[in-house]
Amino acid sequence: MKVVVIGGGPGGYVAAIRASLLNAEVVLIEKDSIGGTCLNVGCIPTKALLHSAKLLEESKNFSDYGIDIEIKGYKWKRIQEKKSLVVNQLVSGVRKLLEISKIQIIKGEASFVNDCTLEVKKEDGNLETIKADKIIIATGSMPIVPQVPGIKDHDICIDSTKALSLEAVPKTMVVIGGGVIGIELATIYSSFGTKVIIVEALSKLLPMMDGEFTDFIRQILESKGITIMTEAKVTSIENVNGIAKVNVESNGNFKSLEVEKVLVSVGRRTNVDKLNLDKAGILHDKGRIRVNEKMETNIPSIYAIGDCLGKVMLAHVASVQGEIAAENALGHNSIYDGKTCPSCVYTNPEFAGVGFTEEELKEKGILYTIGKFPLYSNSKSLIENDGVGIVKLIFGEKYGELLGAHILGPRATDIIGECALALRLEATKEEIISTIHGHPTITEAIREAALAAEKRAIHIPNK
Ligand code: NAI
Repeated sequence: MKVVVIGGGPGGYVAAIRASLLNAEVVLIEKDSIGGTCLNVGCIPTKALLHSAKLLEESKNFSDYGIDIEIKGYKWKRIQEKKSLVVNQLVSGVRKLLEISKIQIIKGEASFVNDCTLEVKKEDGNLETIKADKIIIATGSMPIVPQVPGIKDHDICIDSTKALSLEAVPKTMVVIGGGVIGIELATIYSSFGTKVIIVEALSKLLPMMDGEFTDFIRQILESKGITIMTEAKVTSIENVNGIAKVNVESNGNFKSLEVEKVLVSVGRRTNVDKLNLDKAGILHDKGRIRVNEKMETNIPSIYAIGDCLGKVMLAHVASVQGEIAAENALGHNSIYDGKTCPSCVYTNPEFAGVGFTEEELKEKGILYTIGKFPLYSNSKSLIENDGVGIVKLIFGEKYGELLGAHILGPRATDIIGECALALRLEATKEEIISTIHGHPTITEAIREAALAAEKRAIHIPNK
């Protein structure tokens, strides 16, 4: 069986390895660098910069911890080099894995000729025709550029890719969009001294996350000197001698902000324009490829996974869907279930959630109880970040099963894994309570939140 995967990001390369493990002959077509957005210009470089930013922030409090070191500042070039080192190591690691798996990599841009044939345009302009028994589309996404006059001035307006490798740290920056990318890059640049202003169209930051916690995140970001304008829209951008004049409208009021750079992070759209989906007869909804829970498109031999579906654009979703598509392409019957998919925002402290938010449960009319535990009552968090953060667990009222978990605190993005597993196992309040959590750990706050839901928390008063 010959499986051709289009796109070598965390969706495509995982699909390719899984197909190879199932003894398929696998070809992976990638036009740029293996690892896709995630490894090259997304998750990994962002987290590498965030780590440097966090170290710098923490260094300001060294004396509180009895450490007497004079911090002279930072070297942006060195930070960029460290980031590139991590990226290169991961990319070459993935390349090695593909090699070991005997996956043929073709560098070029693929497009459909029909439902079992692809044409690949190589870098030198040559075309190669490839036939496949099964095809997995994993072409990812690209930043959306909104219709704002002046936004295409690439000297002053940048996307997330450019923002990850700026030559110097700008003194001032407007971030358009208070979603995940906007918040993470605002966190990075404000730590390195940029005066950041976030302009968000909706009334809240991170609209898909727990509302109570996003208010908390807002306070934390503001306390770090970030200005946040919600219910605000950029109406136009002018380049005045290299300075961006950003015109913003908010509830009928107009304001002009003058900054060095404007980061545009208002979401991403599917990257399928060059695929010629119609030649293979693949159904899509304005570029969002339609699939069922087996990742099958309407064409039986063609699968699609990850960002190019235009739904949940997360690397870990793409990877899981890649495994499922590969398994189904090779005769299995695997189903994608997004119930346990965590959302992770790498602020400082981190913010992570899995399952339902209170807002979603209210909308669905599902009855629930909540248990909350503030991290100032958690010893490990108190040691690590002065106890800034909170854990909230949401349980079904009737059966006490976990419906959602939301964590703001140190390493929340790691700790949420426990909650995802609890959701998968339909764990109840009682089961979380009867699970012994190590001490001192931040995970104790999860157990305490479950106890709080029963008004029997030990380390906070029960109201
Ligand atoms: P997003 O969809 O998360 O947020 C975009 C924000 O921009 C929204 O809050 C929206 O209301 C706002 N917006 C839209 N148009 C606007 C306008 N004209 N003016 C002001 N605000 C406007 O998109 P984002 O942050 O660009 O991220 C793209 C994708 O990448 C998302 O699907 C995200 O989940 C994913 N991602 C995930 C990360 C993670 O898991 N840690 C990190 C980075 C990206």
